[in-house]
Amino acid sequence: MQTSLSELLVAGHNVILKAAKLIETNNRLWETDPPAYKEFVNCLFDFLSVYADEFNHQKGEEILFPAMCKKNDIAGMSIVRELTEHHEDFRQQLQEIRKAFSYQDYFSTHRYLETYIHKLRDHIGAGSDELFPMDDDIFSEEEIEKLYFKCIDKDKELGMILKKDYEEQIKTLNRNETVQ
Ligand SMILES: [Fe+2]
Repeated sequence: MQTSLSELLVAGHNVILKAAKLIETNNRLWETDPPAYKEFVNCLFDFLSVYADEFNHQKGEEILFPAMCKKNDIAGMSIVRELTEHHEDFRQQLQEIRKAFSYQDYFSTHRYLETYIHKLRDHIGAGSDELFPMDDDIFSEEEIEKLYFKCIDKDKELGMILKKDYEEQIKTLNRNETVQ
């Protein structure tokens, strides 16, 4: 059975997957409506660096990964290493995408965004399918509960209202005209 901790983290992942879907559905917007595309990408940058990175990746790095490493589980430690490297790659890639966008090179911006979300989907898959079930196995119920409340504290520290705003924003962006 999925624990409260897994549920919380999977819910965050599902919101990020919605943003990934938007990148796919808005794939020609840069040609058909450049001002709308500019606004769309600015919102995405904000979402990816705050919601995906701070609320999600950093929660893993600060709370979950250290707790897993303390367990000295070889499989656990190797997946933690892999996922931490992904986070670094995402941060670097986002800088590259921002650069292309600042030169108004929307063609490259969108191509890079597609590569980014392809990797993000794999990363999220590894978290939801491998890491979280592993956590539910290696931690006791008490430990899971502690980790869960640490995650909630992190959300509070970053801002619960802000978190909700991002979740709502993704739904609003979804109403943008999409061109297949
Ligand atoms: Fe992550």
